Amino acid sequence: MSKIIAFAGKGGVGKTTVASLVIRYITNSDKGSILAVDADPNSNLGETMGLQVTTTIGDIRETYMKDPQGIPSGMNKINYIETLVEQAIIENKKFDLLVMGRQEGQGCYCMVNNILNNFTEKLGAHYKYMVVDNEAGMEHLSRRTSGKVDILFLVTDYSLRGLRALRRIHDMLDRLNLDVKELGIVVTRGPEKLSETFLNEVKEIGLPIVGVIPDDPSLLEFDMERKSLLELADSSSSVLAVQKIMDTHCPA
Ligand SMILES: Nc1ncnc2c1ncn2[C@@H]1O[C@H](COP(=O)(O)OP(=O)(O)OP(=O)(O)O)[C@@H](O)[C@H]1O
Ligand SMILES: [Mg+2]
Repeated sequence: MSKIIAFAGKGGVGKTTVASLVIRYITNSDKGSILAVDADPNSNLGETMGLQVTTTIGDIRETYMKDPQGIPSGMNKINYIETLVEQAIIENKKFDLLVMGRQEGQGCYCMVNNILNNFTEKLGAHYKYMVVDNEAGMEHLSRRTSGKVDILFLVTDYSLRGLRALRRIHDMLDRLNLDVKELGIVVTRGPEKLSETFLNEVKEIGLPIVGVIPDDPSLLEFDMERKSLLELADSSSSVLAVQKIMDTHCPA
């Protein structure tokens, strides 16, 4: 069974950045195969890791829905869709990437969504790690069929507003059919010493802070130059902070 690592938090707090750095950590430490899943309709996980995204699961859904009768002979609905998904996997040397994309239409997509969700779960089982970057809401996580997440990193910037968003997500988790083994808060762009006010709010949420990622100017530089975060220097403060989190919470 693969280890599923997922990220949630308010918009723009650094989920995709931390997800990329976690992927960088796993690939560099040769811990095993990874399926990265970009579950944000405004997908950009591929971009932050220097990959060109050509097909998304959303595209597959549209292709199928436009012509549901167009299944090649000798195939049924399920294996036709599964073949399309296999073709949408972006493979590269260090890990594979699957981009969920958008759901455009208003029609009844339940059947095709079920096939897609089931197959993504099945696919994930072939990898040692599945790293899922979510959108600001919890849509994708709440649609997961098996509902198992090994580590859910709740990402917030150094603000009370970010923490309140985490509190809402935390409350929502109870209502979802999700089996989350470990939950931890990651604070991005945080100072070395967090304020009493911030820590008191964290105490009320009742979850541990698993790491603080400092404001790292090289992230801005890499963004501006469209460079892959996989190429950040080992000595970058954000790389070191994620390494510390992973060494403690996700040892080989
Ligand atoms: N620790 C950090 N230091 C400096 N810049 C950061 C840090 N973390 C994230 N950023 C920058 O903040 C911006 C938003 O980060 P990111 O895209 O990872 O957030 P997100 O939570 O995935 O956003 P969205 O909700 O839109 O998907 C990016 O430009 C990123 O480079
Ligand atoms: Mg993002």
